Amino acid sequence: MSFLDQIDPVKEEAREALEAAKDLKALEEARVGYLGSRGRFTALLKQLGSLSKEERPEAGKRINQAKTELENLLSERKAQLEEQAALPQEPTDFTLPGRRRALGKLHPLTQVTDHIVKSFRRLGFVVADGPEIEDEYHCFDALNTPPDHPARDTQDTFYLDPQQQTTDARNGPFSRLLRTHTSSVQIRVMEQQRPPIRIIVPGRVYRRDTADATHNPTFQQIEGLYVDRNVTVSDLKGTVTSVFREVLGKEVQLRFRPHYFSYTEPSFEIDFSSPLVRKMGKEWLEIAGCGMVHPQVFENVGYDPEEWTGWAFGFGIERIAMIRYGINDIRLFYENDLRFLRQF
Ligand code: DAH
Repeated sequence: MSFLDQIDPVKEEAREALEAAKDLKALEEARVGYLGSRGRFTALLKQLGSLSKEERPEAGKRINQAKTELENLLSERKAQLEEQAALPQEPTDFTLPGRRRALGKLHPLTQVTDHIVKSFRRLGFVVADGPEIEDEYHCFDALNTPPDHPARDTQDTFYLDPQQQTTDARNGPFSRLLRTHTSSVQIRVMEQQRPPIRIIVPGRVYRRDTADATHNPTFQQIEGLYVDRNVTVSDLKGTVTSVFREVLGKEVQLRFRPHYFSYTEPSFEIDFSSPLVRKMGKEWLEIAGCGMVHPQVFENVGYDPEEWTGWAFGFGIERIAMIRYGINDIRLFYENDLRFLRQF
């Protein structure tokens, strides 16, 4: 048989073998048998060199065509069989329930914060924000808190590198620290805006406290500030009472007790009572500080204290969440134990 006559039969056999392969292993066997280095088709290719000069061009062309055809078929079959191998081997039961995606939820502190914010928004307040790395001016001086006040003691709070001072504040340079309260944002907002002002400021604060059931070195506060003409203590009482009733239940009672803060005059501490508080074995719990904005604070931000009046308050969010959910240890909020968090 001439060389040319041998090409087609071998090619056809190879084609049948490739087509008949039922899986990738059988396909590989067929490939080795025909196209591998010792394969039958490869053997034909090797004979090309021994042909005469006249026969070689035609034979070369034909055998290369056949080779391309077989290689194309091989890769086509390979793709088919791979796809087939990737399919599930068992038939699918469409009646089985689907896989549920676990939904996360908001942290209890975030839930309480959102609730309080929503409640103030309804009364026309907007949320304001300020830096957690603050300078002494905004945290203390501008709030009429004198340099010898114990709140400023280096033992009481987290100062940053004393070399890193700011000079942007009024009479700089001032040291930088992690803010000890959100009251600093009152100053930042009043420096930027003219009255009337109605803001609330949820945010993280830092104290040099050792963690125990009621203390943590970082916690959350909400600050409020209202500045307008003819603002009175009864506006303060009415607003705060309405929000606490909404967040903690209609039965709550509030008591405004005279107190001292350097940035308000008069100042009050707000005590809180409810069936839940009594269940915790107490009659009253302190929950917030507040008062009428001190005229010196207005002076410090360039407002005329003869024209403007206002009130401010600040309270800890953890305290509210603990009362609301009956939680007895503040550290639970920061441990991220899912068994705790899933309950809210
Ligand atoms: N800054 C105070 C604190 O951290 C809370 C506070 C008291 C805020 C009176 C106020 C205020 O705005 O008027 O304990």
